[in-house]
Amino acid sequence: MITLVVNGTARQIDADPSTPLLYVLRDQLQLNGAKFGCGLGQCGACTVLADGQAILSCVTPISVLQGRQITTVEGLGTVENPGPMQRAFIDAQAAQCGYCIPGMMMRAQALLQDNSRPTDAQIRAALEPNLCRCGTHMRILRAVHRAAALMQRADASTTDGGAR
Ligand code: FES
Ligand code: FES
Repeated sequence: MITLVVNGTARQIDADPSTPLLYVLRDQLQLNGAKFGCGLGQCGACTVLADGQAILSCVTPISVLQGRQITTVEGLGTVENPGPMQRAFIDAQAAQCGYCIPGMMMRAQALLQDNSRPTDAQIRAALEPNLCRCGTHMRILRAVHRAAALMQRADASTTDGGAR
């Protein structure tokens, strides 16, 4: 039995330690946001966060994730109350088929945690491991800039609120 902390909740997982995280997320925890694209670490569709860093869950065994904070796209918000990254991708209409989008959002989330105001070049470089077959790259770029702006606005209002 392995304990994984997923979206803030400890989950007991009964699986071989070599099982890729993606299979556990989708098959045991019914968290279907992360997608199976290639299964070989080559497309980014399965990207999630471990302690804030983007990882490819299709090639990451659960044995190395014990005690680490795993965040999936479901952890960024809900349909009723989308988080800033999700809101921005909706506003920018960044999805065509949508298959790559959860992975894009998670890698962008990791970027904005490190760099709250990335340039176009920095976003392109950070998202390079994630492929989009539909070619919505320009909208994805706009979405990440918008997410950065939404997060800064949220931070500013929190700071303002704290000052009052
Ligand atoms: S499914 Fe993991 S990188 Fe393609
Ligand atoms: S929106 Fe279809 S693969 Fe990116």
